[in-house]
Amino acid sequence: MLVLGIETSCDETGVAVVDTHGGLKSEALYSQAHMHAMYGGVVPEIASRDHVRRLVPLIRQVLNSANISRPDSIAYTAGPGLVGALMVGAGIANGLALGWDCPVIKVHHMEGHLVAPMLDSERPEFPFLALLVSGGHTMLVWAESLGKYSIIGNTLDDAVGEAFDKTAKLLGLGYPGGPQISRIAESGNDNSHVFPRPMKNKPGFDFSFSGLKTAVMLKVKELEENKSLELNQSDLAASFQRAAVDTLVYRTLKAAAEIGSERLVVSGGVSANKLLRKELDSNFKGTVYYPDLKFCTDNGAMIALAGALRLNEGIVSSEICASARWSLEDLSPPEIYG
Ligand code: KG4
Ligand code: ZN
Repeated sequence: MLVLGIETSCDETGVAVVDTHGGLKSEALYSQAHMHAMYGGVVPEIASRDHVRRLVPLIRQVLNSANISRPDSIAYTAGPGLVGALMVGAGIANGLALGWDCPVIKVHHMEGHLVAPMLDSERPEFPFLALLVSGGHTMLVWAESLGKYSIIGNTLDDAVGEAFDKTAKLLGLGYPGGPQISRIAESGNDNSHVFPRPMKNKPGFDFSFSGLKTAVMLKVKELEENKSLELNQSDLAASFQRAAVDTLVYRTLKAAAEIGSERLVVSGGVSANKLLRKELDSNFKGTVYYPDLKFCTDNGAMIALAGALRLNEGIVSSEICASARWSLEDLSPPEIYG
C-alpha cells in the first residue's frame, strides 16, 4: 500500500510517497526559508499562503515520480504548528481523500520526527529513548511503541533550535540560524567565552535555553561597547554551540543511564548539527540513530512514514484536524476508519 505524506506545519511544504514496508518511493520539498529570512523568522500568514501555492503542484510531481495516479491513503500533519499552515495541509489531504475515497491519517509532527530515522535501512526498533530537537521543541521522550510516548524532559522556555536562531540573529547571520552558526563555528575557538550550561546540576531531565541566549546577548553588548575588545563572530558562535551541545548531551546521557536505554534516536532540525552527532557518537553507550541529513528538518517523507506505520496498525482517522498545540503524550486513541 502506498501512503502520500503531506507536511505543512511551518515553512516547508513537504510531500512524499512511502510504501507500508517503509520504503521511500518519491519525495519533494519546497523551503520558504528565503521568504522569511528578511523578517528574521517565520511569518505565519506568508507561510500559509505559500503552502496554498506549492502543495498541489508538489503532490502532482511526487505522484508522477512514483509512477502512480493516486495513493492508497493520505497522511498529513495535523499539529502542532502554525494553525493557518496546518489547515492548508489538512484541507487538501481531506479533500483528496474524499475524491479518491481513501483513508486519511492525521499525524503528529513530532511523531514524524521521531520515526524519521526509520526511513534508513538500519532502523531503530521500539522501545528507545529519543532526543527531539527542533525549532519549536526540545524533548527527551521514552518511546515504548508507536503512539505510546512519555515525555521525560522538556524545555522550560526556548527550544534549542530557537536559541540557535536567536543567537544567529544577534550575530547578524541569516535565518534559519542553526546551519549558519555551525558553519562559522568551525573556524572559531569554542573556549573563547564561557557560557552557562543551563540546568546541568538540576535534578530531572528538563532543559532551559533562554539564559544561554541572554548570556550571548550580554557578551555581544560588552564587546560592542568596549572598543579595545574584538568581537569575533566565529568564536562567539563556537562557544555558544559548545554550551548548547554540552547541555543536550549531558542531560541525554543522564536520562539514558537512568532509564537503561541502549538505543537513542536523535531527530528534528538540530539533529543535523555535526558537533551534537560527534559528541553523542563518542559518549553514548549503545547505538545512536539519526535521520539522513535531508530528513532532519521538516519533510513529507517522515509524515508519510508515520502514516504508513499507523496504517499497518489499523490506525486511521476520519475528521479534519489542525491543532496548533498538541502533546505527543496525548495521541488520540486509535480511530478505525469508516
Ligand atoms: O525540525 P525543523 O525543521 O522545524 C521545526 O519543527 O521546528 O527544525 C528547524 C530548526 C531551526 O531552529 C534550525 O536553526 C535548526 O533546526 N537547525 C540546526 C541545524 N540545522 C537546522 N541547528 C543546529 N545545527 C544545525 N546544523
Ligand atoms: Zn519539525
